[in-house]
Amino acid sequence: MNIKKIAVIAGDGIGPEVVAEGIKVMEKAAVLDGRISFEFTHFPWGCEYYLEHGKMMADDGIEQLKAFDAIYLGAVGYPGVPDHISLWDLLLIIRKEFDQYVNLRPIQLLDGATCPITHGTKENIDMLFIRENSEGEYAGAGDWLFKGKQEEVVLQTGVFSRKGTERIMRHAFEVAKKEKKSLTSISKGNALNYSMVFWDEVFEEISQEYPEVETYSYLVDAAAMHMIMDPGRFEVVVTSNLFGDILTDVGAALAGGMGLAAGANINPERTYPSMFEPVHGSAPDIAGKQIANPLAAIWSVSQMFDFFGFEDIGENILQAIEKVMTEGEVLTPDLGGNAKTNEVGERVVQLLK
Ligand code: NAI
Ligand code: MG
Repeated sequence: MNIKKIAVIAGDGIGPEVVAEGIKVMEKAAVLDGRISFEFTHFPWGCEYYLEHGKMMADDGIEQLKAFDAIYLGAVGYPGVPDHISLWDLLLIIRKEFDQYVNLRPIQLLDGATCPITHGTKENIDMLFIRENSEGEYAGAGDWLFKGKQEEVVLQTGVFSRKGTERIMRHAFEVAKKEKKSLTSISKGNALNYSMVFWDEVFEEISQEYPEVETYSYLVDAAAMHMIMDPGRFEVVVTSNLFGDILTDVGAALAGGMGLAAGANINPERTYPSMFEPVHGSAPDIAGKQIANPLAAIWSVSQMFDFFGFEDIGENILQAIEKVMTEGEVLTPDLGGNAKTNEVGERVVQLLK
């Protein structure tokens, strides 16, 4: 039996509500399969913890998390704690310290999901975004000079190292090669005359190592338009931290909304734990009402099984999600239903094979 140790950081707002459903699915899928089981350890970190202790996580939090095979995260952020603190002192620290430099965000229109564009189909909305997750525009580099003065200047520096750029591209090429898909790079080499010219050059260089992979390169503004007008152009996509953040929200909208968007933060070398989470935030506007859609959090559980090498279980979970949507009877209000968060989770559990 393969026993995986999972650190659960349910976090704030709807985080605990959706994570509870993800855990039910994880446990049931494992029991049905019989090859894998989980040991969960819950960490109370997040904004409530911050208000009590003045910090988002324990001082040795990173040290504690190192012992786990994966981290399952709900969402962090709540009114009362500035967002840049909640984001940086928990989520971004984990992504950085654990070198989770690959952010995998599938954008797939499942049967039963509504697409806001009339020409959107299951066939043409089927992309995998591979977002650089460790540096770029979110490197946290910059300065704030002459604060409050007339001559005030702020600098937010994008950091693109050769190592960081090459490794994300190699990873993307490997995925495209394995899946026999095209690879599209999204950048902005016309305006960002250092970082994105470099990005484009590295993409071109690495592409020489993968002659079998068909490649495309778009400027980010054009890519945003193509995603809406002609989404079928995109299969595997590699892009920088900021562009990936923005475009995957466009993708989430195409694929049925934030309630269905999942993301994995992967350390491909497996030196450190990887982290699985829904893309959405803590949704304070609907927190505590049991109306949050747990399907994104459940989809990220499917990604976790894939990561552990049990792609068949991951696929089983994805099919159960799709079944819940095609049935259309047990859905949360964001998908037009009136079911509770836990009812959706339980329906997915019932539909697992
Ligand atoms: P949000 O994703 O929390 O909410 C945006 C909108 O989508 C809201 O109207 C919300 O009700 C809806 N929504 C989100 N998830 C949903 C779900 N599962 N089911 C149904 N409806 C859902 O983003 P927002 O409002 O910008 O941020 C709220 C807080 O979350 C902030 O503190 C922000 O910093 C934090 N945040 C945290 C993230 C994370 O932990 N990964 C990611 C994004 C935001
Ligand atoms: Mg985002």
